[in-house]
Amino acid sequence: MSAKLGVNVDHIATIREARKIREPDPVTAALIAELAGCHGITAHLREDKRHIQDRDIRLLRGTVTTKLNLKIAPTAEMLQFATNVQPDLVTLVSENRQEITTEGGLNVTAKIDELAKFVMTLKSNDIAVCVFIEPETEQVKAAKKIGADFVEFNTGKYAAACDLGSIQEVDREVSAIEDMTVLARKYGLRVLAGHGLNYRNVGAIAAIEGIEEINVGHSIVSRAVFVGMEKAVKEMLEAIRR
Ligand code: PXP
Repeated sequence: MSAKLGVNVDHIATIREARKIREPDPVTAALIAELAGCHGITAHLREDKRHIQDRDIRLLRGTVTTKLNLKIAPTAEMLQFATNVQPDLVTLVSENRQEITTEGGLNVTAKIDELAKFVMTLKSNDIAVCVFIEPETEQVKAAKKIGADFVEFNTGKYAAACDLGSIQEVDREVSAIEDMTVLARKYGLRVLAGHGLNYRNVGAIAAIEGIEEINVGHSIVSRAVFVGMEKAVKEMLEAIRR
């Protein structure tokens, strides 16, 4: 069975926030993405609220009919917001105010006790939990230890290797994600992947046995500017199924 597609609508909000007005609305984009056949909507509520706003997540919670995956940094304020809004899934990500986009996976091994408490609170509120990590053995083991339900492997290094055109590095990154998918599934963790994926490089990741869902944002929104959201999502679904 081919991997599912989660559409990240952050950068629709980036365009809106460039003017701080009401359009384009990430909630409208999410509805169109669902009509085009995607399997879930993801959005990252950053602490600096540079794109997605609290209001967007609240409206998405009321309108998304597939699955809402809220990405947050593991902070007390975000935990309270998430338990209040009740997304289907929370993905814990690392966040750094200076970065242009998420730069790496969360270092779960460095914060086992703190993250375990975080996960327990979310799960006791009936919210499934995912951790966005590098495809590394220690991180997978730590994800299991803190009680996460899912891991999302960071495909950023793979995407960078594709851009460089380094076949050896591409192969190394694909192998790491393949191996870590096997390990995660052995531990009973469900596996997602994303970051930096586009129409050209998504195929090799989508083809990895055991990866349930691919999360894509920037490349879909970039294409949507020219061809429209519906077509951009449909074309990504085709690229995943190829
Ligand atoms: N997965 C995670 C955890 C992310 O933080 C992001 C970007 O915010 C994505 C996937 C989507 O990445 P991109 O916009 O590069 O497709």
